[in-house]
Amino acid sequence: MSTIIERKKITTRTFPRRKQKGEKLAILTAYDYYTARILDTCGMDGVMVGDSLNMVVYGHKTTLSAEMDKMLFHTRAVADAVRQALVIADMPFLSYQPSVETAIFNAGRFLKEAGAEAVKLEGGIEIVPTVKRLIELGIPVMGHIGMTPQSIHRLGGPRVQGRETERNSYFIESAEALDEAGCFGCVLELMTAPLAKEITERVTMATIGIGSGRFCDGQVLVINDIIGLYEDTHPRFVRRYANVGAEIEKAARGFADDVRSGKYPSDEESFLE
Ligand code: KIV
Repeated sequence: MSTIIERKKITTRTFPRRKQKGEKLAILTAYDYYTARILDTCGMDGVMVGDSLNMVVYGHKTTLSAEMDKMLFHTRAVADAVRQALVIADMPFLSYQPSVETAIFNAGRFLKEAGAEAVKLEGGIEIVPTVKRLIELGIPVMGHIGMTPQSIHRLGGPRVQGRETERNSYFIESAEALDEAGCFGCVLELMTAPLAKEITERVTMATIGIGSGRFCDGQVLVINDIIGLYEDTHPRFVRRYANVGAEIEKAARGFADDVRSGKYPSDEESFLE
């Protein structure tokens, strides 16, 4: 039996408040009902339906082909399971970039049809007008700067950002502009720790790091990475807490052996009359 941690509902207001108090925020991704329920029960602050699902659930090479419908289906399943954590839905590639109107329509669908409580958009100063409008309309926004996977081809791969110092001012200005626009939080992905620290000190929104060191106000990781579901990718910043891939293999082999040897099903597992 898992222990249920009694606590208040986490809202977008909790994020900057926790930053002020120096209390770190823990967020994991989830894509299905039962995983989300476990994460919520064990006290996660946020459950994010990341477009990483396109890679870690559907096996695609990038996040680029994630569609609105796919993201909405998975967000609905997660939102149905979560009681206390904040449910954040990732807006997929081209669901917000074409125009402010497109962004409003699609972000609205996440709240209205899928039960999300906030949306996350990748991009810096160039998407601030869109972010402002969404927030004005009551749609909470989390920013996402640094190594933004939807720009993977422009960036030339998952490269650490902040090493070419001339680009640092872009990240700092972007973080400040997103903060000013009213974001409650911002993901800082694959950034040098000194750059993430500087941004964290300059903004009132909570910075949530992924591969950006320990100075952020919180951390987010992809659930499938930390439970060890696969062996083929293991980024340096991911800490593995379990080896679920090996457990699945053990269960599958055990089942196949039992079926083949006639041990499954037993009489107890059958309806004899
Ligand atoms: O897609 C995703 O899962 C993400 C987070 C890990 C930040 O963007």
